[in-house]
Amino acid sequence: MAMEIERNKQKETEASTNGIFAQMEKYGHEQVIFNYDKATGLKSIVAIHDTTLGPALGGCRMWPYETEQEALQDVLRLSRGMTYKCAVSGESFGGGKSVIWADPHKDKSDELFQAFGSYIETMKGRFYTGTDVGTVSMDFVSARKQTQYLVGLPEEYGGSGNSAIITAYGVHKGMKATAKEAFGDESLSGKKIAVQGLGKVGKRLLDHLFEEGAIVTATDIFDDNIRMAKMAHPDLKIVPPEEIYGVECDIFSPNALGAVLNDNTIPRLTCKVICGAANNVLEDKRHGRMLFEQGILYAPDYVVNAGGLIEVAEELHGFNKERAFSKAEQIYDTLLQIYSYSRDKGIPTSEAADELVERKLDVISRIQSKYMC
Ligand code: NAI
Repeated sequence: MAMEIERNKQKETEASTNGIFAQMEKYGHEQVIFNYDKATGLKSIVAIHDTTLGPALGGCRMWPYETEQEALQDVLRLSRGMTYKCAVSGESFGGGKSVIWADPHKDKSDELFQAFGSYIETMKGRFYTGTDVGTVSMDFVSARKQTQYLVGLPEEYGGSGNSAIITAYGVHKGMKATAKEAFGDESLSGKKIAVQGLGKVGKRLLDHLFEEGAIVTATDIFDDNIRMAKMAHPDLKIVPPEEIYGVECDIFSPNALGAVLNDNTIPRLTCKVICGAANNVLEDKRHGRMLFEQGILYAPDYVVNAGGLIEVAEELHGFNKERAFSKAEQIYDTLLQIYSYSRDKGIPTSEAADELVERKLDVISRIQSKYMC
């Protein structure tokens, strides 16, 4: 009996291990690390996708995932996105990401983030991390007691501060480039825009959109965020979260979580353009093609939302705000190049962006393969 239990246990372990390797193989990951801290109960996963371009860089997401598998899936997808985002933005960093499996509204403490920092320190600079959904710059002031490999700390701690400001700036530029391609005019004045998510990025994006004279409808799952957005912009229309997909609009802007463009939502969209900050908005690669076939111009997420990455990467080279914003402005031209490539080849913009990035990674890895004396 004891042997049978042992054998079953072994089988279970093998199955889960094979499962993880299979997923790493699917996305092309280099390394996945599970961290558990007994003292604080911290459960975190760090995924390093590809370090061809340099040490891995990517935020830390804190989320109450329903299952371990869901957390793993998220960190794998997000870290892969970072490889593409670094490459397309011309930053010499690889793709990585971390997740903390906990509720950001209930489980935060100085000790939890110190424990997280202690694990980041063990990687000795192979991975740099900072804020993402569920975390804010101040959380990393705690982590900083244990590690130096952090980005996006508050300005008073020598960091570049809140990356959502530059991310929203980049999304606005990207939206103008995408409007130019889709409507022949970059102006957003009078355009009907549906915004999903009024968090750190979404609420700042609203400032840009209202300043340009857009007509905005938005949603969020937190009443406080809606209340604050309405206070700043009394003309903002609000709809319940599930209704946002069906709102009649020119542009849909996802700024909440991933996988929101899928078999259920795409047929409900009325827009001609999709452009927002949320990472991994396509549930699957084929949804990029579905949008293409439906005549919707999709601004690839990792291109549009690169502002935050550009800022924190700049921080590691000696931070200069002006240089960071001028680099983020290039999101406009990068998107136009992707749209032109997509048109020439007759392929979805999501595939066009991936092809251009993969070509670049291939060239750099061949440059680096030279023998050094
Ligand atoms: P956040 O956590 O401050 O905001 C997300 C907002 O989405 C929250 O207000 C939340 O209540 C809302 N939300 C969640 N599920 C929703 C749903 N089903 N319907 C409507 N609203 C919902 O996060 P942040 O920083 O604003 O990021 C937003 C997105 O942009 C995320 O996907 C993030 O990964 C991405 N991103 C953020 C960057 C940054 O610099 N903050 C940089 C690059 C990407």
